This record gives sequence, C-alpha cells and structure tokens, in this order.
Amino acid sequence: MLDRRTLLLSSLSLGACGATSPTPPAAPVVALKTLCPFPVGVCATALQLEEHGWTELVLSQFNQLTPEWQMKMEYTLQPDFSLRFDAPDAIVAFAREHALGVHGHALIWYSQGEAAFGALADDRFIAEFDRYVTGVVAHYRDRVVSWDVVNEPVTDEGSALRTSHWDRIPGPDGHIARAFRIAREADPRAVLFLNDYNLESNPTKGATFLRLVERLVSAGVPIGGIGIQSHLDIEAPAGQISSFMKSAAQFGLPIHVSEVDASLRNGRTFDLRSVAERQRQQLARVGELANAFMDLPRSQQFAFSIWGARDTDSPLRRDDRDDGKDRPVLFDEHGEPNPAYFAVADAFRRATPGSPAKTPQT
Ligand code: XIL
Repeated sequence: MLDRRTLLLSSLSLGACGATSPTPPAAPVVALKTLCPFPVGVCATALQLEEHGWTELVLSQFNQLTPEWQMKMEYTLQPDFSLRFDAPDAIVAFAREHALGVHGHALIWYSQGEAAFGALADDRFIAEFDRYVTGVVAHYRDRVVSWDVVNEPVTDEGSALRTSHWDRIPGPDGHIARAFRIAREADPRAVLFLNDYNLESNPTKGATFLRLVERLVSAGVPIGGIGIQSHLDIEAPAGQISSFMKSAAQFGLPIHVSEVDASLRNGRTFDLRSVAERQRQQLARVGELANAFMDLPRSQQFAFSIWGARDTDSPLRRDDRDDGKDRPVLFDEHGEPNPAYFAVADAFRRATPGSPAKTPQT
C-alpha cells in the first residue's frame, strides 16, 4: 500500500520526466511540532478558531500562533485612540487553553496608522505612539512571549529604509528605536523582533536590513530577535536563502522564520514552467530554508512559522490572481500534507538523535 508521500512524489516525478523514477522511501506523516525542540508556528484569525478542520490540523501539527491581522493597528486602534482586543484576546485564550505560544504581530508597520496619527500635532503624535505601543504590549504581558515590534522597515527595492508617517518620531532610526524601547518598558521579558520579507531573495534588501540591525544593537536598542518572513521566491538561485540565514546569524540573536509560504505562481503573465518544475523548485527552496534554520545554533532557533495552516487559509489563495491551484503551504485544503510538508519534516528530523545530517538540496 503506497502512502500519501510516495503517491505525491512519484506522480510529480513521473510528470517531470515522463518516466518511472525510484520511489523515495516512504515516510509517515508525523506532527511537525514533535520533530524539533523549537516552536512550529502558524498564523491564525479569530474566525478560524470556530472551524473544526482548522483547529484539528493546527492542534495536531503546531504549537505557536501568530495573529494574522487582528493584533495589528488596523484592528486594535479605534478612531478615538482607544484600543479593542476582542479578536486577538480570543486567539490568545485559545492558545492558552491548548498550551500554544503566541507571537505578537505587529506593533508598528509603515502601512498602518496614517489616518489616525496623521491628524495629530507633533507632541500628541509622540505621546499617542508611546501610548499605543505601551497599551498593546502591556495588555498581553506574560501572555505573548514575543513581538514583531517593527514590521517591514526596508523598501521593496532594498537600498533604504521606508519613509512613512512614523518619520515624525525624531532621532537616529527614529520610530524604530523608540518602538523597541517603549515595548521593552512595557514588558521586560518579551523577545522583541524586527521582521521583514524578501531578505533572502533580494541581497540588497537583506544587507540594508542587517545594517539596521547592527545600528540598533550598537545603539543599545533592545532588539531581541530577527524575523525573516520567508514568503519564498521559488525561482531564487540555490544558496541565497542559506547565505542570508548565515549572515543574519552573525548577531547571535534568535531568528524567527516567521511567515513561510512558497507560491507555485510567479505572477508573470506567461509562466512556462510545468507543474512538476514548479513543485521541484518549491521543494528545493523550502528544503533549503528549513535546513538553513536547522544549521543555526539551538539558541538562535526561535521558531519556524507557516503563513497559513492549509492552502485555502493562505492569503495567496485569496489573491485575485489565484488560479485555485496554488499550494503555497504545508497542507492542502483538506489538511492533507503537500509535498512541501515532507521537505520541512525531513529537515526537522535532523533534530532527532541518530538522524541523517542533511538532505541534499538541488
Ligand atoms: C497579511 C495577512 O495575511 C492578510 O490577511 C492581511 O489582510 C494583510 O497582511 N507580511 C506581514 C503580514 O508581516 O502581516 C502580512 O499578512 C503578509 C506580509
């Protein structure tokens, strides 16, 4: 009887080369959280807590949650600058009921807050900035173990920090440094992260991000971790992911691979790659990411988090360009393992005593 993994991979290999290929050794579908000593996370919304298919898969595979959007300013900050927490409180309560950790996401983001803060005079602006960061972090003190304090500080092109309404906060690295300092005052123990995307696929952006980390560390800003979102470009050259992970590790800080997905689509009008080629690329890059994380010292393996429990939970499947066939995360719409699940599980198994050192990456 062939198990799911064998059927999945052999059908793909047949598709790729049109000929039979050796069937890989069958491997059981085991809970990712049982394979490794660090948390395996997934993003969550309050609505998903009510959906049995989601809770069954999440409770079997994962042990940390990241609120996908309801802990962000767009949800928590009211027009009168009061705060609402009903939805994120439900996520935190679910996590505590089931002994899951919670990673707070995200306090300050260039893309949110302009409408509310834009109308404020400078002195009130700073006061409300401090009050917001303090209010949210203090509300979750001892319930949220870590925070994305500043999200996506570097431009897409990668050579500079983004400009935004937050630039009204004075001082070197202005709002970024202040947000970390205010968050630290509100919770002396939370691990405070700087989080961004395309750091591995855009070397310029990765370098700008790490120079920012270096400045913050040198200035005594309480940055406690580096968040590598890892919305992977599966056509990126082999080795870029590993190379950035090694560069990021140089600070000795915990690293959160924080928002993993690996779309089979590349957004181009004509994508001439076969499904098998896209799947091969995805397995290679997801495997490279997971193995690069496994290569980190244990003290720097903060967590490995996926941006969607099932393909249909991924925002990539809510995108208007979605063709209904993308498989960006580890489990399909029915909660069955995608090929990418096996790439991650194979890498995580390296944490098991006596397991093989490393799966060769193409
Ligand atoms: C996205 C969520 O998935 C969407 O549901 C929401 O509408 C917008 O934000 N980087 C981040 C995440 O840090 O917060 C983003 O999540 C994806 C990109």
